[in-house]
Amino acid sequence: MKPGTSSASAALAALIARSQRIVAFTGAGISTESGIPDFRSPGGIWSRMQPIDFRDFMSSIEMRREAWRRKAVIDQDFQQAAPNRGHRALAALVSHGAMSAIITQNIDGLHQASGVPADKVIELHGNGTYATCLDCGQRYELAPIMVAFERDETVPECDACGGIVKSATVSFGQAMPQAAMARAQAESTACDLFIVLGSSLVVYPAAGFPALAKRRGAKLVIINREETDQDGSADLVVHGEIGATLGEAVGVA
Ligand code: APR
Ligand code: ZN
Repeated sequence: MKPGTSSASAALAALIARSQRIVAFTGAGISTESGIPDFRSPGGIWSRMQPIDFRDFMSSIEMRREAWRRKAVIDQDFQQAAPNRGHRALAALVSHGAMSAIITQNIDGLHQASGVPADKVIELHGNGTYATCLDCGQRYELAPIMVAFERDETVPECDACGGIVKSATVSFGQAMPQAAMARAQAESTACDLFIVLGSSLVVYPAAGFPALAKRRGAKLVIINREETDQDGSADLVVHGEIGATLGEAVGVA
């Protein structure tokens, strides 16, 4: 069923009203209305640069320098970004107790910035708003790192152990966060409504969670501008804007 926006919002509102335990699964598409480009839309991040594989990042300081150069560019969009209507609608569902968790592939921290408690946000690909030492786990705030990097491209190392410091995101080739994966698995299994918002569903293992929820009996909704290869198994597909569709369904401006 692929109705226009308003009938889609009504259909989505009906599914939400009938659900006891809702889980959202978000991708970069929920943040484009906040000014952060996604990865695979025309003009998206991967149309402008290739991802740096974790093994390459670890193998040379030059690759680490290139990674921090990109971070400096991408962070300009992050700094300007504020939660949008889609984020606010999810935050409302969480605060009403209807939504048990938001599984996100995003690293922008906008779900937390919209007021969703951090323990309700499951970050599968980490978080790009701070950095950590890959050896001892020490947390580092980005601001001082970026000041030093802008000054003379100093690549950060851990003050405590001399280890490599990296943005707290999960790169291609890097191990997935076990605790987050286990929580996402448990939430996908326990929910009765699983709503995908703004993901091309091409990156695994993350993209396996909608199918898991569906297999375990949940209703599956996909709200995405473009078709995904899981549309065929969804109970409701909306090829439209997340902010309008979800905001209207939840009654959030
Ligand atoms: N409303 C609805 N859909 C949107 C909107 C919007 N406002 N903006 C973009 N989209 C859709 C695009 O059509 C696209 O299909 O969101 C989808 C975003 O897909 P991707 O750019 O592939 O992002 P995502 O699925 O989150 O990527 C997954 O890939 O590169 C890795 O680690 C990165 O977490 C990321 C992962
Ligand atoms: Zn360290």
